[in-house]
Amino acid sequence: MIITQATMDDFEGILSLIRANHINYISERDKPDGFVTTNFTDAQLEALIVNEHGVTIAKENGKVLSFAMAASWEFWVEWPFFACMIEKLPEFTFEGQTLTRQNSYQYGPICIDKSVRGTGLFERVFYASLASMRERYPIMATFINQINHRSYAAHTKKVPLMTLGTFQFNQNDYYLMACSTALTQK
Ligand SMILES: CC(C)(COP(=O)(O)OP(=O)(O)OC[C@H]1O[C@@H](n2cnc3c(N)ncnc32)[C@H](O)[C@@H]1OP(=O)(O)O)[C@@H](O)C(=O)NCCC(=O)NCCS
Repeated sequence: MIITQATMDDFEGILSLIRANHINYISERDKPDGFVTTNFTDAQLEALIVNEHGVTIAKENGKVLSFAMAASWEFWVEWPFFACMIEKLPEFTFEGQTLTRQNSYQYGPICIDKSVRGTGLFERVFYASLASMRERYPIMATFINQINHRSYAAHTKKVPLMTLGTFQFNQNDYYLMACSTALTQK
């Protein structure tokens, strides 16, 4: 398994993993194991890979088995959901610091192919993504839909994200989570 930053060669593999795990496409039976809600146009995904260097992937035999997205708030602001999160940043404090567009970035979505869940790959991709942003930001911030229990369990038990509070968008309830980018895998 290779863990690396994605290039445009990985574009189709990332897209197909998004589709396989997106709430708009997955079956009711698969929902308890988590889902992705962010939609990307081809241009947005290309900008994330090329301009933000913001996609960490795991691949084996050329197949993308995991991705984790990460980018500046300036990148995410064009999604109404993230514009809402940005407005709420001043309401949240991490280790004594109020979250800002300058001291934090947005991580997620992350996705692990069904075939390799529960293998420890989640932790490896998570920490590789964190390391890729360490030089740029001290704080990682993210959201988790409160009905995505598997994602919440993974991000609190397998990696130590802190829950800073909750917020609502379009009648859905979310946790606002954060951690220091100085964290490394034990
Ligand atoms: C969320 C995700 C990234 C976690 O990676 P993973 O490899 O499945 O994580 P793990 O299995 O190592 O850890 C998840 C934990 O949740 C627990 N869990 C599994 N199903 C669960 C459920 N339905 N409800 C609550 N917890 C659950 C597991 O038992 C495990 O904890 P344990 O090993 O201590 O028992 C992965 O499941 C995934 O890609 N899901 C689809 C997309 C998604 O939801 N992405 C996150 C949203 S941004």
